[in-house]
Amino acid sequence: MKDLHGRTIDYMRISITDRCNLRCKYCMPQDISQVPMNEILTYEEIADVCREAVKLGIRKFKITGGEPLVRKECTSLIRKIKEIPEVEQVTMTTNGILLEAHLEALLLAGLDAVNVSLDTLDEKRYEEITGFTGLRSVLSAINAALDRGLRVKVNAVLQPGVNDEEWNRLLGLAKKRNLDVRFIEMMPIGAGKQYRTVSNEKLLQKMKMVYPDIQKDERIHGNGPAVYYRIPGFQGSIGFISAIHGVFCDRCNRIRMTATGELKPCLCYGDTVSVKKVLREGNSDDVRALIEQAVLGKPKMHCFAQRPGITEYKNMVQIGG
Ligand code: 5AD
Ligand code: SF4
Repeated sequence: MKDLHGRTIDYMRISITDRCNLRCKYCMPQDISQVPMNEILTYEEIADVCREAVKLGIRKFKITGGEPLVRKECTSLIRKIKEIPEVEQVTMTTNGILLEAHLEALLLAGLDAVNVSLDTLDEKRYEEITGFTGLRSVLSAINAALDRGLRVKVNAVLQPGVNDEEWNRLLGLAKKRNLDVRFIEMMPIGAGKQYRTVSNEKLLQKMKMVYPDIQKDERIHGNGPAVYYRIPGFQGSIGFISAIHGVFCDRCNRIRMTATGELKPCLCYGDTVSVKKVLREGNSDDVRALIEQAVLGKPKMHCFAQRPGITEYKNMVQIGG
């Protein structure tokens, strides 16, 4: 369906858990409290929301967390959503730690693509950023997924003085294999507010010095706000998600749902429309009306550059990115 700003909304990001097996400081502070399980939507409830969403023209779904693979039987949800005839695509965002273990089941369930969050290729730095070791299993999962024909994107958040010098090393992943490496500017959401971002514009300038042949890639690569480039000789593309230094909201196509059933019109604002009560007590038409309300509540754009306007106080782990 169209929102009030003429944008077609055909994509829903669904967080299925606020738990995670890593502790990236900018996403999930140590002391964060977790929602009791009975407040989290069941897979059947989530599938009910999807069934109503497709009636409004939402055809693509992304499963997020927290870390979606820490929730039991996560693949059964993917299967349930894939079984809805109108659904075009179900993808997942994961930190990759448990990906290889679940890979065959995910493929069997019909998963269409995976985004792997990975900020560094250095073991020690991986532990500093995420609080855990495990880089090797993430890299192994990426290779295994590609070997099995799953489309892969790697999402990296660069921080000045932490991992920003690693951009070229991270690009090496797209050189060797057919996967997209995307650089995401740190958004001032939750704990992310205390961290600085790298400017993607400046990053591109640096890349142009090393790779003068880098060219804009006009092919569409996914559902999102990323702008893509290609480097001759590289198998995959390079993406930039420039939340701070480049507003992409005119192309916004999405709505989000948190694990507790709060529909979020925009990442930047705390406003939500809760579907949980109606899901548990009401009827399906009412659920659809709430999704419609959330889509119509979408603002024209975010205000990440003017921080006082931000009204979202949750951490990214509770939203799903
Ligand atoms: N800004 C940008 N990206 C973030 N993520 C988590 N917090 C932020 C933030 N403040 C990213 C993670 C992961 C995805 C789920 O969201 O790095 O790729
Ligand atoms: Fe859409 Fe809000 Fe993201 Fe902009 S910030 S792209 S309006 S969800």
